[in-house]
Order: sequence, then structure tokens, then C-alpha cells
Amino acid sequence: MDGNRRWAKKRSLPRSAGHRYGAQTFRNITKYCGKCGIKYLTVYAFSTENWKRPKSEVDGIMKLFKEYLNESITDFRKENIKTCFIGDFTPLSPEIIELMREAEELTKDKTGLCLNIAINYGGREEIAQAARRLAMEVAQGRLSPDDISDEQLTAHMYTAGQPDPDLILRPSGEYRISNFLLWQSAYAEYVFMDILWPDFKPADLDKALAEYAKRNRRFGGV
Ligand code: FPP
Repeated sequence: MDGNRRWAKKRSLPRSAGHRYGAQTFRNITKYCGKCGIKYLTVYAFSTENWKRPKSEVDGIMKLFKEYLNESITDFRKENIKTCFIGDFTPLSPEIIELMREAEELTKDKTGLCLNIAINYGGREEIAQAARRLAMEVAQGRLSPDDISDEQLTAHMYTAGQPDPDLILRPSGEYRISNFLLWQSAYAEYVFMDILWPDFKPADLDKALAEYAKRNRRFGGV
């Protein structure tokens, strides 16, 4: 969900306004994905590197999460959306962790869109934590080093049990993956769009899906 700050700067608004509009776009696009029949959506809300931002900005984003989590518990439930969180939650406030747990618990039986919100997420850290857990199983004699495979690593990612992404969409005109779903994106199709996230509309998602539909996916085969 990139481009919130540039969007605010263009309008001489504070950064917090960019994130607030970004949060609104997030709500709209998530609901639209559910209506389109998309089964899994993962949004990159806060990276392991985003703590480097000014404290006031980080505090503002955390405040938005709280507001969103309170609202989503009623709003997304009505839309049949199952909400999950991925990332390292250790540095988050106990209040946010409790709201996240509550949102997961209250939506766990929903059968529509499965929404993953990546908070304090980093693809490298996700791979490192999988490696640590596998090493622990080896040290405890529950796993042989020879059994460490692609499948074993996949089963130790935050997204265990979910399919790999088909499409990764980055708005805002940047051409980077910024530590997002590094393991899972091995064969994902990328679409980069020059639209700042707060301006992103359902019609833009339609365009990205149309672009994806033209791709010829060979997964290394012919
Ligand atoms: C990236 O834009 C955006 C973020 C680091 C924060 C994203 C957070 C939200 C959209 C808030 C709400 C999210 C939820 C789940 C309620 P940027 O600030 O890097 O923009 P720039 O590229 O223009 O600097």
C-alpha cells in the first residue's frame, strides 16, 4: 500500500492524512476483492524497516491500526472476510496484539476472502524464523537435517497452509519488492502501477487482473 506520503505531500497535507486515506482505500479494495471472488489477499501494512520513520508517523500508523481493528471486527465480519495477521508481533503494543487476536478469533469461521495483514513483516525475517524453528526441531531430535525441504520451509512460513500468491501488485510507481513475501513469490506474476495507493480504485484492480490474465505462466516448464 505504497505512496501515502507522496499523495499527502502533493496536496500539502500532513503524512498522517496520506495514511488515513490509504486506510480507506484498503477497506474499499479489500471488500472489492471479496466481491470479485479472490480467495486470498495479503496487504503490506507495516514492514520490519518502517520503524526507522519518525516516531510521530509510526505512532499515527499504530493509531490507525487500532481504529481499523475496532471497526473491522464489525465491518469485515458482515462481508464474510476471514482476517489473519502475519509478521513478528513482539514489538507491537499489548493492546494492538489483543485486538488482532480478537479479530482473528471472531472471523475464523468466515468462508469468503481470507485477508492477511502483514504487520512488522519482513520476508527475510520470515525465512530466518522458519530456519530457527526447523533448527530447534533438529536439535530436539524431532527432525533430520535431510528432511529439511522446500515443503518443510513452506510449512514454517507465516502463511503455512495458504497457496502461494499468483499476482503481486505494487502501486506508486516504484519497481521493487521491498522484502515482501520473498519465499512465496517464487513464481508470482508482478504488476507495477504508477498510482499512489490512496488514489487506487477498484477499476485499477480490474486493470491489474486483466494484465495478469494475459500472462503465460510456465512455472519453469514449457
Ligand atoms: C507506505 O506508503 C505505507 C505505509 C508504510 C503504511 C501503510 C498503512 C496504511 C495504509 C494504514 C492502514 C492500514 C491498515 C491495515 C488499517 P509510504 O508512506 O511509504 O508512501 P511514500 O512511498 O509516498 O513515502
